[in-house]
Amino acid sequence: MSGFVVKPEPVEVPGLVHLHTGKVRDLYQNEAGDLVMVASDRTSAFDWVLPTDIPDKGRILTQLSLWWFDQLADLIPNHVLSTDVPAGAPADWAGRTLVCTSLRMVPVECVARGYLTGSGLVEYEESRTVCGLALPEGLENGSELPAPIFTPATKAAVGDHDENVSYEEVARQVGAETAAQLRQATLAVYGRARDIARDRGIVLADTKFEFGYESTDPGDDEPQLVIADEVLTPDSSRFWPAADWQPGRAQKSFDKQFIRDWLSSEASGWDPKSENPPPALPQEIVDASRAKYVEAYERLTGQSWS
Ligand SMILES: Nc1ncnc2c1ncn2[C@@H]1O[C@H](COP(=O)(O)OP(=O)(O)O)[C@@H](O)[C@H]1O
Ligand SMILES: [Mg+2]
Repeated sequence: MSGFVVKPEPVEVPGLVHLHTGKVRDLYQNEAGDLVMVASDRTSAFDWVLPTDIPDKGRILTQLSLWWFDQLADLIPNHVLSTDVPAGAPADWAGRTLVCTSLRMVPVECVARGYLTGSGLVEYEESRTVCGLALPEGLENGSELPAPIFTPATKAAVGDHDENVSYEEVARQVGAETAAQLRQATLAVYGRARDIARDRGIVLADTKFEFGYESTDPGDDEPQLVIADEVLTPDSSRFWPAADWQPGRAQKSFDKQFIRDWLSSEASGWDPKSENPPPALPQEIVDASRAKYVEAYERLTGQSWS
């Protein structure tokens, strides 16, 4: 089993139609046909949406995405139209709402990796490849790759694993031209973001983007690829403090690694491999998590959170 421990109810707002409850974001459509994306304080781990919220998380991720969209604006158009809270919506939506162009999403998780870890490391140790791409001998957990690589995955439903796929498989699924555009955009945006993060003392080990097309017509001659969803947040990326980076071991990180660590420890009384839903997080894990999200925001943007 997996999915939501407690499935949240959509909020009723006049003029908005509820479309989808994602792991973290709730999606609505407004009367203009635009997408209203509301980032909740939910967290997912081990394919479960946890029963405990991290206060302000959705706001922090939304503000960090907005900051990144600005940094990337000359490289690629993004889906943001405004941050206006729709009339009649809860006051709590302020800071966590993005009104976006509703895109024809490309169903590929576009991952860029500049460093070896996670599922990439597992594959490398078996076959010296990542997503079928050959890599040199001698790399360890946390090693910087000779050059960043595009390692796409197929997008799973809530409660399922994303699965790494080869570039050829992506090309089969979405067409050679779209696949080439995805790879080019993913590596260009990763390269820019890695350099910005590096200047701020943070290693951007890997990250995941989602793209869409503005035109609803798949037969459009030159459709423009648009970057969508969230970008370059601790939920979609591995950020490591550069000062502590040392290949050959697990890295300290700004993501939810220590939520995962607590859940898999004795203290939680829970086995991630079991069929049972995960328990509530203790207050100290909630507080420490929130502090990590704030720290990532402040270090990257150079702005203070509160
Ligand atoms: N501009 C857009 N147009 C249409 N769908 C979008 C757009 N931006 C993001 N999405 C989709 O909205 C959802 C965001 O909610 P999230 O909680 O992250 O979902 P998930 O559980 O799929 O990760 C994702 O399914 C993403 O593909
Ligand atoms: Mg998502």
